[in-house]
Amino acid sequence: MNHKVALNFADGKTLFFPVQGNELLLDAALRNGINIPLDCREGVCATCMGRCESGSYAMDYVDEEALSPRDLQQRKILACQTRVKSDASFYFDFDSSLCSAAQSSDVQAVVSAVEQVSPSTAILHLDASADPRQLDFLPGQYARLQIPGSDARRSYSFANRPNEQNALQFLIRLLPDGAMSNYLRDRCQVGDTIRFEAPLGAFYLRHVEKPLVLVAGGTGLSAFLGMLDDIAERGGCGHPVHLYYGVRQAADLCELARIEGYAERIPGFRFTPVISDDGPQWTGKRGFIPEHFDATDLGEQPFDMYLCGPPPMVESVKSWLDAQPFDHGRLYFEKFTESNS
Ligand code: FES
Repeated sequence: MNHKVALNFADGKTLFFPVQGNELLLDAALRNGINIPLDCREGVCATCMGRCESGSYAMDYVDEEALSPRDLQQRKILACQTRVKSDASFYFDFDSSLCSAAQSSDVQAVVSAVEQVSPSTAILHLDASADPRQLDFLPGQYARLQIPGSDARRSYSFANRPNEQNALQFLIRLLPDGAMSNYLRDRCQVGDTIRFEAPLGAFYLRHVEKPLVLVAGGTGLSAFLGMLDDIAERGGCGHPVHLYYGVRQAADLCELARIEGYAERIPGFRFTPVISDDGPQWTGKRGFIPEHFDATDLGEQPFDMYLCGPPPMVESVKSWLDAQPFDHGRLYFEKFTESNS
């Protein structure tokens, strides 16, 4: 039996389509040309998360890291795991344009530089100016890069904003033995061609209506560099912005001059670096990021929080928020697992 489904998006647009009996919501959307952002298709990454506004549904598998019990109570769903049981409507907190048929495309670029910005981090600079289109993406989204000379692909958030030159940056953690890390260390030459698919993901800066709290773990900073470049370019966003940036050792902190530069370009910008383990020379904040949130400060007025980093960091911040008595605004997060190979 078919059901009629409405998908409503943050830009106010609504798309309608039929769902066949027992069909997954994601499959039905794709069949109807609506490309809901997705990644794992296994109920783990939460990229396809939405909320059921009306109607009944059931979900096959939901990883506890993707949706918490509270999320489930709020009728949040994963489109890749949702079977629609009646006529229903769902809300997705991103613009409908993200779902257009031309959502992502294959792009070819050349390496213009590899800049080592800390002992553990590099910025890969790509030049895609040979592509006649300006590459569109929302700051915070990511690309899936094919590593030259192999079939391996790795995903990295854009570390800058879209621009007419199609000059792109990606912050990349250098692993002792990783496919991309080995390529960058051993074989990469300026002028190498790299293909990638972009834009991907639903983690991007929404319309700013409240103070912003941005929380980066390690190279999760990449997504925020893109967002902050964008805010700085616009001369601010009308609200204060506080960036927390956690890494293991002080030497892992990177792009500090760029971050300090935001203080001059973004009114109300604050920056708190946090080191989880380090020698005695570090005089700043130590431990884990939630230990340095000021509940009084944050509880004074609602805020929107964006989290990007490894799953344990994202989970610890979510748990901290759940334990607070105040109501914050919206929470957006992107978890990434750094590949070991
Ligand atoms: S695509 Fe990963 S949870 Fe649905």
